[in-house]
Amino acid sequence: PYPNLTPTPPMGWNNWSYYGCDISEETVLANARALVSSGLAAKGYDTVTTDDCWMTHTRDADGNLVPDPTRFPHGMAYVGEQLHAMGLKFGIYEDAGTATCGGYPGSYSHIKQDADLFAKWKVDYLKLDGCNVPVPTGQSADDIYHKIYGDMSQALLDTGRPIVYSVSAPAYFEGEKDWHHVISWSAEVGNLWREGADVAMESSSARGKWASIKYNYGYNVPLADLQSPGRWNDPDFLLAGQSRLTGDEIRSQMSLWSVMAAPLISSTDLTKASPEALDVLGNKDVIAVDQDAKGLQGRIVQQGDGYDVLSKPLANGDRAVALFNSSDEAHTITTTAAKAGLPAGSSYLLKDLWSKRTTQTTGTIAANVPAHATVLYRVHAGTAHRVQPATAITWTRTGG
Ligand code: GLA
Ligand code: GLA
Repeated sequence: PYPNLTPTPPMGWNNWSYYGCDISEETVLANARALVSSGLAAKGYDTVTTDDCWMTHTRDADGNLVPDPTRFPHGMAYVGEQLHAMGLKFGIYEDAGTATCGGYPGSYSHIKQDADLFAKWKVDYLKLDGCNVPVPTGQSADDIYHKIYGDMSQALLDTGRPIVYSVSAPAYFEGEKDWHHVISWSAEVGNLWREGADVAMESSSARGKWASIKYNYGYNVPLADLQSPGRWNDPDFLLAGQSRLTGDEIRSQMSLWSVMAAPLISSTDLTKASPEALDVLGNKDVIAVDQDAKGLQGRIVQQGDGYDVLSKPLANGDRAVALFNSSDEAHTITTTAAKAGLPAGSSYLLKDLWSKRTTQTTGTIAANVPAHATVLYRVHAGTAHRVQPATAITWTRTGG
């Protein structure tokens, strides 16, 4: 298999969902500076990816890709240098087909040449999309995608530069009979893979945005069996900071993505993001759930009308337990430590990773959860982090 370059899920920023093709060197670097100045880079958001539309419509006389001279006047190697100088990693977008989804030249029949160019530009992360892959009638799309994505995997290896490889192939098989098979070979050739539809863009309606978060959660959550430590399902970008989403909605997405050990890739204008959005992206306890060393995707352990309970095993034996209210009304969601997979015991500590309050329970895990919200607990069996006894302390005056 491709080397495990991402023992924990990748984190970073990508322009696509917020800016689409409206990108430039200045936009990318301004967001990179904001990653650093907001403290998000220090919390792990270290890879800045320039998505589609960075290049011109034709290759040069030697067949090389050409950065758009208006959008990227100093070229892409320069963008990489600037990012590296900020302590960040440089991600770039290409496509396995004849053209990118935006209509720019794809890597089809230029795989080795493009891999070499990216390595020369000191790229650290490649997102290889899957639009416009020619599939001759009668041939298997699964085989053809497998061949091209495998060729790029080998070409990246041959460069000798460690380049995280994000494979978009499964997104082109979502729900089809070969879907899981495509995911299984994606985990051999790459480090992470998109498996389904794009999350909403900044311009979407409020309803479309929340619906897309639920939709992407919905296709990602049953794929836990196809994930393993270092091989990540990618349900697409975090939308915190975008307009038309409530605080509960962006906290829900951050909670669910972390419990699913999803890549945490912000797509917003970080130079204008509200303090609330930056706090959501920067919640260290939630990031720790995502980045937990055990490297496992959480699973649904209980479902009811309008809600899911998910549990993710953590390296120290704790569990992250999410009470996700997907409905449009408040619900009291109740589960137990046993259902969440914790060992039997008489006492558990629940730390609410958003409010930061810690409470003790004999086994019931419950909360009143507003519409679209998620309560996220880190549950610890026992009372290791000592809780004050409820009895009053009496001071006895002696002597005198
Ligand atoms: C596809 C991908 C998106 C983005 C666009 C660019 O839709 O899924 O993430 O890369 O292409 O055109
Ligand atoms: C749309 C998106 C693509 C891809 C496919 C998957 O076409 O634009 O990026 O996600 O859906 O079906």
